[in-house]
Amino acid sequence: MDRSPLLTTDRLLLRRWQAADLAPFAALNADPEVMAHFPATMSPADSDALVERIEAGFEERGFGLWAVEVADTGRFIGFTGLSVPRFEAPFLPAVEIGWRLARPYWGHGYATEAARRVLGFAFDDLGLAEVVSFTSTTNLRSQAVMARLGLTHDPAEDFDHPSVPEGSPLRRHVLWRITADRWHARP
Ligand SMILES: CC(C)(COP(=O)(O)OP(=O)(O)OC[C@H]1O[C@@H](n2cnc3c(N)ncnc32)[C@H](O)[C@@H]1OP(=O)(O)O)[C@@H](O)C(=O)NCCC(=O)NCCS
Repeated sequence: MDRSPLLTTDRLLLRRWQAADLAPFAALNADPEVMAHFPATMSPADSDALVERIEAGFEERGFGLWAVEVADTGRFIGFTGLSVPRFEAPFLPAVEIGWRLARPYWGHGYATEAARRVLGFAFDDLGLAEVVSFTSTTNLRSQAVMARLGLTHDPAEDFDHPSVPEGSPLRRHVLWRITADRWHARP
């Protein structure tokens, strides 16, 4: 398999990470608004280490959280892609789709556009049978992306994320799913 899958959409480039992405990625990971639905913002060192893990994942599996660039401007705006959650939950193992964009790039449809391309890759190139997505119950913007993509949510599958401290309002999570059949049957 191609270990450097480059994906394109009308407005975006989904590519492997570059050294120049580290500073803008650290900035968005330190932004309290971007990280509002996570237990904490990230330090630059943790942000850099995350990029290293993502890149190692691309080498190992041929997929991961792609760096997203606006094609017209060449500007790095965040990530959208696939990951394999490592905690324990009834719905795991599974492949998860996720997204995180810098605040100025919300409200342009970029996350949904990038994620549509990633789902196409997941089902058509990787041949996955299903992709899941999850977020804290409070994260309505992320759930709106899931709904636009055609994922569905069964409240019976809501769960407490083991890495979020007990008592935190961010601990309760929703689980959304989409099967390959549903993806291919979309209008
Ligand atoms: C989750 C997140 C990626 C969603 O971003 P978003 O901008 O709301 O979602 P999209 O990129 O799909 O954009 C959709 C919006 O762009 C608007 N839009 C503007 N131009 C558009 C265009 N050309 N095409 C499509 N939509 C467009 C849509 O109307 C919609 O607006 P609305 O939110 O007012 O309804 C973003 O909030 C984020 O990065 N959050 C922090 C990280 C995070 O929580 N990640 C998920 C954790 S699990």
